Amino acid sequence: METTVKKFSATWRERLHSMRNIPPLMRLVWESAHDVVGGDAASRIVAALIPLAMLGVSKRIFDVVQARFSGHPLPPYFWWLVLAEFVLAGLGGMLGRLTGFLDALLADRFSRHVSIRVMDHASRLDLASYEDPVFYDKLERARVQATDRIAMVQAIGNVFQQFIVSASLCWGIFLFSPWLLGLLVASVTPAFLGESYLAFEGYSLSLRQTPVRRQLDYLRLVGASKESAKELKLFGLSGFIINEFTRHSDRIYEENVALAKRRFWLGSLLSLLGTGGYYGAYAFVIYRTVEGALSLGTMMFLVGAIAGASQNIQNIFSTSSSIADQSLFLTDLVEFFKMRPTVRNPPRALPAPRLIRDGLRFERVSFVYPGRQRPVLERLDLHLSPGERVALVGANGEGKTTLVKLLTRLYDPTEGRILLDGVDLREYDLDSLHRQIGVIFQDFFRFEMTARQNIAVGCLDLCTPARVEQAARASRAHAVIERLPGGYEQLLGRRFVGGVDLSGGEWQKLALARAYLRDAQLLVLDEPTAALDAPSEYELFRHFADLCAGRMALLISHRFSTVRMADRILVLASGQVAEEGNHKQLVARGGLYSEMFEMQAAGYR
Ligand SMILES: Nc1ncnc2c1ncn2[C@@H]1O[C@H](COP(=O)(O)OP(=O)(O)OP(=O)(O)O)[C@@H](O)[C@H]1O
Ligand SMILES: [Mg+2]
Repeated sequence: METTVKKFSATWRERLHSMRNIPPLMRLVWESAHDVVGGDAASRIVAALIPLAMLGVSKRIFDVVQARFSGHPLPPYFWWLVLAEFVLAGLGGMLGRLTGFLDALLADRFSRHVSIRVMDHASRLDLASYEDPVFYDKLERARVQATDRIAMVQAIGNVFQQFIVSASLCWGIFLFSPWLLGLLVASVTPAFLGESYLAFEGYSLSLRQTPVRRQLDYLRLVGASKESAKELKLFGLSGFIINEFTRHSDRIYEENVALAKRRFWLGSLLSLLGTGGYYGAYAFVIYRTVEGALSLGTMMFLVGAIAGASQNIQNIFSTSSSIADQSLFLTDLVEFFKMRPTVRNPPRALPAPRLIRDGLRFERVSFVYPGRQRPVLERLDLHLSPGERVALVGANGEGKTTLVKLLTRLYDPTEGRILLDGVDLREYDLDSLHRQIGVIFQDFFRFEMTARQNIAVGCLDLCTPARVEQAARASRAHAVIERLPGGYEQLLGRRFVGGVDLSGGEWQKLALARAYLRDAQLLVLDEPTAALDAPSEYELFRHFADLCAGRMALLISHRFSTVRMADRILVLASGQVAEEGNHKQLVARGGLYSEMFEMQAAGYR
């Protein structure tokens, strides 16, 4: 029992806490469309005063009619009253349409604004965040909330309007009988409490279900996607995937049914209470009229006001309960916007040097991935001089890609520092630093856009068609593109109608062109030839010196034919540079490098 009470009060605290999300939400709404919000508020205020005005006019009409039965003449303004009622009704209808129209505009503007904010903010966050599943849940929910929360914005508008309607009607009721008002309010309160409690239960349930829902999304993707189709068929996996899916979704269904049942019983009971309160007040007014204490017009007014107020108060409760419920969901969006990257620009950021003189130095750099124990790099020292072409080799998992992530500041070292021309990378402006680096990762991204755009992303601002073509020739992508039906304007990938997919090596050539296009002083190629055929690799080899002319190049490869292109080769092992020298020297040395080289060469003999 005690735990239930504790749970209940905890849930209340949390619910109230969640209301703190409303101001930031309103700020977002306001940012997205001041004019629409202003118009919406104005039309809702006017619309909210119409019910009271109409009841006031009706009361007058009824009182005049009753007086007429007792022999009084009709006052000269009588028919104007009737006309006024008609005008008010017409105005109410029009304002209703107007708020609907403005809400629709607001929905579009808001979801566009929030989507942009989410993308913009996401792009600034640490790469490490993306590799954390908890963050990923948050991002997913924030993404959905970006477009979903507009219903909540409209609900806030509705509550605002319902509040003015109820306040004005209650004021009317209060003038006739204060305790009639008390009766009304008392009868709707339990319904509010109950609704809120149930809404919270719904939220905590769906929060608990999030990991399972992610699992379901993943299974849905695996069960029906282009990427998995080949393996699903050949390994006969679809039965297995469907079973897993059914198992997880059955559990969610059962939990939801249990909650829906409780919602049904408690909700019915509470709404019965509310109806009782309303009819109590109604009976009281009729009784007073029959007794002769109230005029017919007053009865009309009170009956209308009680009906309107109780309906609106109930609406306020249920709408605010749904707002509270939704604002709990909003926690993720608000927290997401509050997240700050750890890799960011220093207060007085330096521009990256336009001409690198000393090059890039790693000084006793150690790195441990967040949440991991084992360091990938341990007190690593390394120097890349300008104009030098260095190859990095090492077994899988030795930290080659990690090293690239560090020198591009996707991560910062755990210990030690990386210097560019003697200045810590952390001192430089991030954008300016990134402009000096052209990097193609092992898992480079395939933009499902045109061939030209795939290359031009390398230098979006100053990309002429001639430069794109030049880079494409250098990476041998030009020949691939020429064979496409649409040439450079051919849409790539299979996601959109008319798209053409490329082979792994063809995609890689495009990605290479992207790196060449970048007017960067440091070129980093992580496995640039992994998917290339022998002639392409040979060509790349022939042009490599030209391509890298005047820039530093860092090449990562498991292919010794590629590695040989470098002036200097570094062997990465146990988090450090274990050997270095050119190909000849390293083979002659008879260490790790020559061992790896011999093994690969033996395969060809
Ligand atoms: N995001 C990550 N979070 C945690 N650990 C990671 C992450 N990325 C890589 N690792 C771990 O860090 C180590 C080094 O990975 P890295 O990708 O740098 O290796 P690599 O030398 O590039 O290997 P490969 O030759 O296979 O490309 C591996 O043991 C890997 O498991
Ligand atoms: Mg790698």
